[in-house]
Amino acid sequence: MAKPEVYKNYIGGEWMESATGATFENRNPANTDEVVGIFQKSSADDVNKAVAAAKEAYKKWRLVPAPKRAEILLRIADRLVKEKEELSRDMTREMGKILKETRGDVQEAIDMGYYMVGEGRRQFGYTTPSELPNKFNMCVRQPKGVCGMITPWNFPMAIPSWKMMPALVCGNTVVIKPATDTPLSVYSYIKIMEEEGIPPGVVNFVTGSGGSVGQPLMTHRDVAVISFTGSTEVGRKVSEACASDFRGCHLEMGGKNCILIMDDANVDLAVEGALWGAFGTTGQRCTASSRMIVHKDVIKEFTDKLVARAKALKVGNGLDETVEMGPAVNESQMKTVLEYMDIGKNKDGAKLLCGGGRLTGGDYDKGFFTQPTVFGDVTPDMTIFQEEIFGSVTSITVCSSLEEGIEMSNNTTYGLSASIYTQDVNRAFTAMRDVYTGIFYVNAPTIGAEVHLPFGGVKDTGNGHREAGIAGIDVFSEWKSVYVDFSGTIQKAQIDNN
Ligand code: UN1
Repeated sequence: MAKPEVYKNYIGGEWMESATGATFENRNPANTDEVVGIFQKSSADDVNKAVAAAKEAYKKWRLVPAPKRAEILLRIADRLVKEKEELSRDMTREMGKILKETRGDVQEAIDMGYYMVGEGRRQFGYTTPSELPNKFNMCVRQPKGVCGMITPWNFPMAIPSWKMMPALVCGNTVVIKPATDTPLSVYSYIKIMEEEGIPPGVVNFVTGSGGSVGQPLMTHRDVAVISFTGSTEVGRKVSEACASDFRGCHLEMGGKNCILIMDDANVDLAVEGALWGAFGTTGQRCTASSRMIVHKDVIKEFTDKLVARAKALKVGNGLDETVEMGPAVNESQMKTVLEYMDIGKNKDGAKLLCGGGRLTGGDYDKGFFTQPTVFGDVTPDMTIFQEEIFGSVTSITVCSSLEEGIEMSNNTTYGLSASIYTQDVNRAFTAMRDVYTGIFYVNAPTIGAEVHLPFGGVKDTGNGHREAGIAGIDVFSEWKSVYVDFSGTIQKAQIDNN
């Protein structure tokens, strides 16, 4: 086997080794014999250097006209289009999800690029009348400065793109720390940025652990805003790190998303949606459909059909085009999922309908494969109903009315995404209004957000911000209200005109 490539950090326009000189391996979770690459195990010194470079580069980048900044982003997005297949294959090798989905991930990064290219000629503010004569009022957007980004492994290009593209088009500079499981995808993105003309220091890339890189990044006084996607537990730490010096903090955290299936639902369609929502990306989405709340009149039909489909899913190496579900991203994630399977079986006492363990034998032994798992007779007090699992497990709970279903749906500390299957427009609109989440679907599963709508959630899922869409621009810009008095006299608001 060829010697694995060693990838460096990118700081101030230079590719460099970490100050520690140490590195870490990135292995394929479908075949741990394969080392995908060797990456820098960085430290606070590297972070400090990267933030200083970003701070310096900000002086010029913020003054580049936004349409010109967008032209560079356009070239970057075009390159992602050209290299989509190769980038998708690398992504499958480094984190396991199947090719169809890694292609979707790269596509989502492209979509966000193109969307934000348009923002180069928008970034609309507004003008509004003054209460005084000969005075002009307007509200404009201004960049914030250095943006720190801590990105997850489940969407290795899409989520970095959700963060970097709006930040850059607004005139900010970036220091990004990718998840330790997926540095290659972000490396490739950054390399393309360098080649397509992002000036030195505007984007900086530092790899390493949350403790050694994420921590100094989130606490750095020169980082104006941190954008973090990951667990609620870590998000709380990020929030605390930013709170005392009032730095911006955008958090996108866990979910416990539910599909409501009513007695008038098209059950076959709901089964299709449930399968995709629960086992797509091996359930490793914050939007994964991990709770099915099903009306008693259709629960038997729905359950039988879902279990039959889950049992038949082909699990394996995502590079094989016939495979439908890949492995867990790493050993510790697999162990967590296996623990939840145990909790479901033993502590919660739910009914195991299929799966429930690790897949072993043959090639499975080389990776972190878990069975598609469905639990029945799940009640709201159970751990598997309440806690985010982030793996190939879903649960079925019975309800006897729309109202009860909505109440159960809201019975969680999270609030990212939810959906309803029904043919009745009144029920659809009632659920749309009363289920308290940031995202809601009708006759579709809880996954599949598009880049031009705000993405994020309520309660323990977020902290009031959204990314993607115009909301993404809001995270990375500040409002400035500007008053221009051309009267040539002193005019006193609230006083002179009363
Ligand atoms: C995530 O799970 O972290 O809506 C992001 C979706 C994808 C993005 C998911 N477009 O499922």
